[in-house]
Amino acid sequence: MKPVNIAVLVSGHGRGSNLQAIIDATRDGRVEGRVALVIGTRDGAPAMDRARSNGIPAAEVAPKAFSSDTEYAARIVNLLHEYNADLVCLAGYMRILPSKVIDAYRWRVMNIHPGLIPLFCGKGMYGEHVHQAAIDYGVKVSGCTVHFVDEHYDSGPIILQKVVSVEEGDTAGDLAARVLAEEHKAYPEAIQLFAEGRLKVDGRIVHILPKP
Ligand code: GRF
Repeated sequence: MKPVNIAVLVSGHGRGSNLQAIIDATRDGRVEGRVALVIGTRDGAPAMDRARSNGIPAAEVAPKAFSSDTEYAARIVNLLHEYNADLVCLAGYMRILPSKVIDAYRWRVMNIHPGLIPLFCGKGMYGEHVHQAAIDYGVKVSGCTVHFVDEHYDSGPIILQKVVSVEEGDTAGDLAARVLAEEHKAYPEAIQLFAEGRLKVDGRIVHILPKP
């Protein structure tokens, strides 16, 4: 098994806590691989600084700097090839990834969502909106979902989910913090399953193959 080369994509003001969790997991052996590159839509985002302070190249690729989505996608794909990325992890990337990138990396792009898909997801459902919606609905559990990325928001096949309880009197911030702690475990676990070649996509279903 060859160590997996990971590219992480972040957006805007991304704080990069999932990026850090992935880096930490590659360094303590929970993930057999390394973060080869971080691509961000805006330099100066905390996630970009975090990458550089960990000695990882961080490239700004601002969508507005390109005259079309096709050119934006081509720049991302070129960088992914240049850094020999095997897997692309969206971590706080707030846009629909251009379909040219998804095509080039079919079932090799993952995302993490701070809710239990298919609940409280889709366009506009990000950050505290997700947690507030969960609290307002009155659900008793919430959690996070790692899934493969397709052409729509939060709709690709689910790799794994982790559940937390929603406690009486929780604010969106309280729930966000409880879910985030699980995100930091879930993303490295999903990446390691990928690294071990144990994820098999069959329509909507991701089969997790037994350890060889
Ligand atoms: C996380 O809550 C993740 O689920 C969502 O964006 C947030 C990114 O947080 N997709 P961070 O930048 O990794 O701290």
